[in-house]
Amino acid sequence: MSLKNTADSYGTIAKWLHWTTALLFLGSYVSVYYRQWFTEAETPENWTALQLHLSIGVTIAVVVILRIIWKLSNRSPDPEPGSKLEHLAAKLGHLALYAVMIIMPITGYIGTGVNTEFFFLFDIPKFADTPLFTALVTDGLGITFEEFEKPIDFIHKKVMGEWLVWLLILGHVAAALYHHLVKKDRTLYKMTINK
Ligand code: HEM
Ligand code: HEM
Repeated sequence: MSLKNTADSYGTIAKWLHWTTALLFLGSYVSVYYRQWFTEAETPENWTALQLHLSIGVTIAVVVILRIIWKLSNRSPDPEPGSKLEHLAAKLGHLALYAVMIIMPITGYIGTGVNTEFFFLFDIPKFADTPLFTALVTDGLGITFEEFEKPIDFIHKKVMGEWLVWLLILGHVAAALYHHLVKKDRTLYKMTINK
């Protein structure tokens, strides 16, 4: 098995990056909904679940940077046979997933009013405490954190977190299953066992 992508499969590194991201997304949803549905406000469990959400989200930001670098320095496997429209839909779908992997950590970080205790190892200061916040938001836009946070939270939680991200991931998984079960091509194998 090759580390780099080949004409007929993703390589080991692309596979690890892909499946690590999928697990991290699962973790970010489980932690945030566990906090909201199963913990009381201002309890240690509530705080731990929030901090896990923040830490996992920041990890996704790091992984997506590595993923983009790897994608740009590597060929992509040849696509399976399909119409021009199918290939275009796959390209746009993947592009949208990259956008999600970038926009969610950024809106999460800049809209959060607490420091990230990164897996309880070290603190990452909240955006509102950074010189960039003062330059861009306080001095640049002339607004407070509370005013800035509202639209950003709306994008992170409502528009994307509750809807768009689910739709895109469900569509992506449905497409993978369609390839595997209906078209019976090698799409899923390329990202897994390369049969
Ligand atoms: C890809 C990464 C991320 C995903 C998929 C994600 C997803 C979500 C979702 C689904 C919610 C709950 C929305 C709702 O209230 O219904 C949420 C809330 C939240 N997110 Fe993220 N998020 C990510 C990264 C981050 C990061 C990096 C931070 C901050 C460093 C962050 C901070 C928050 C905060 C503070 C909340 C509110 C928590 C609550 O009200 O219980 N998120 N996020
Ligand atoms: C159970 C969940 C998942 C399954 C079964 C799955 C399956 C696949 C498969 C089969 C491919 C290869 C498609 C092709 O070559 O045309 C792929 C590629 C891709 N997947 Fe997933 N995936 C899952 C979760 C996710 C998640 C959560 C994300 C990101 C939020 C994601 C982002 C991508 C991207 C961007 C590609 C394009 C290849 C690349 O640039 O690495 N996937 N996925």
